[in-house]
Amino acid sequence: MISEKMRPYVENNSAIRAMFEEGNQLRAKYGADKVFDFSLGNPNVPAPECVKEAIIDLVTKEDPVVLHGYMSNAGFEDVRDTIAESLNRRFETKFEGKNLIMTVGAASGLNVILKTVLNPGEEVIVFAPYFLEYGAYVRNYDGVLVEVSPDTATFQPNLEEFAQKITEKTRAVIINNPHNPTGVVYSEETIQEVARIMEEKQKEFNRVIYLISDEPYRELVYDGAVVPYLTKYYKNTVVGYSYSKSLSLPGERIGYLVIPDEVEDSEEVISAATIANRILGSVNAPSLIQKVIGKCVDAEVDIAYYDRNRTALYEGLKECGFECIKPQGAFYLFVKSPVPNEKEFCNAAKKYNILMVPGSSFACPGYVRLAYCVSYETIQNSLPAFKKLAEEYF
Ligand SMILES: Cc1ncc(COP(=O)(O)O)c(C=O)c1O
Repeated sequence: MISEKMRPYVENNSAIRAMFEEGNQLRAKYGADKVFDFSLGNPNVPAPECVKEAIIDLVTKEDPVVLHGYMSNAGFEDVRDTIAESLNRRFETKFEGKNLIMTVGAASGLNVILKTVLNPGEEVIVFAPYFLEYGAYVRNYDGVLVEVSPDTATFQPNLEEFAQKITEKTRAVIINNPHNPTGVVYSEETIQEVARIMEEKQKEFNRVIYLISDEPYRELVYDGAVVPYLTKYYKNTVVGYSYSKSLSLPGERIGYLVIPDEVEDSEEVISAATIANRILGSVNAPSLIQKVIGKCVDAEVDIAYYDRNRTALYEGLKECGFECIKPQGAFYLFVKSPVPNEKEFCNAAKKYNILMVPGSSFACPGYVRLAYCVSYETIQNSLPAFKKLAEEYF
């Protein structure tokens, strides 16, 4: 007998699984090269070579008892020091290893910080469209998710509505930059404004409101776009980072939280978050891959590959008559559905073996998400199919 709290997730999971199964069925029927599956944000650019070299080096040279053993629940000290130094060099911050907690990807980092700061009934604000798992993470700790509606002209946060939605129950705000599912990068002006509003509301309600910066796509940016480092704009910021996308390591489950000294009662928050990491069941982030990160801290995947896909797909879709903002980051395009019900549009696309995710999966109906972390050939071969699809509407 499963719990009442789990029941809606089980029901929803069958819809996600159905989409996944559909892709497999189409591939079995038509062959993988005839199916244009843009549904999953699973990086297709291989991890940098140094990851492989580091794994070989570590397993051949390091003491296996240390390498595969338990360590502090916050992670290996030397690895946290190395990451802190790298962040300081790149973003002019002043972190130390003690400000970092290694986590099992961003998903776990978000759960750790929400468990650490959220009381039942407290509110967490998100900007639609958003990564729908946020809702589950907030409800895990009996928090209440509050959505700010999308600004579909720019997909920058709707700041007027944001200010109105902060209440005496708001405990945290989640910002995801660069953004899934739109690929938009929030500008420095936007972040300054978010920070200003939050400072004001902290004073008005006399309580701490955390800004949680979810940034697994930080390094995936194009055209020289700059992603502001949020701890520099607002003191009560906690950063959740992941190597899933930046180093193409999603299955390894590795990331970290940064809790700066400027966060109110930071020592207490850091030690509580370290305990949360343990009692949520992760105990510590996987040891081998932590050490790999320590050796590959400044490595990068081949961004040019995604960039080529981005341009080819964006221009191809525009030529067909579809509307969408040119993304500056991540590996997603958020395309306006030519009919109000985007699920209908997704179904029509399946006739041409095109798989996309409806915007309602990101609390933004009327749009569809295409993940372009696929092969360049898939993009090229998909364009005639998109053309046929477009002919149904334009
Ligand atoms: C916006 C956003 N946050 C968090 C995550 C979770 O990433 P991780 O694999 O690091 O848990 C994802 C994964 O797709 C994401 O898109």
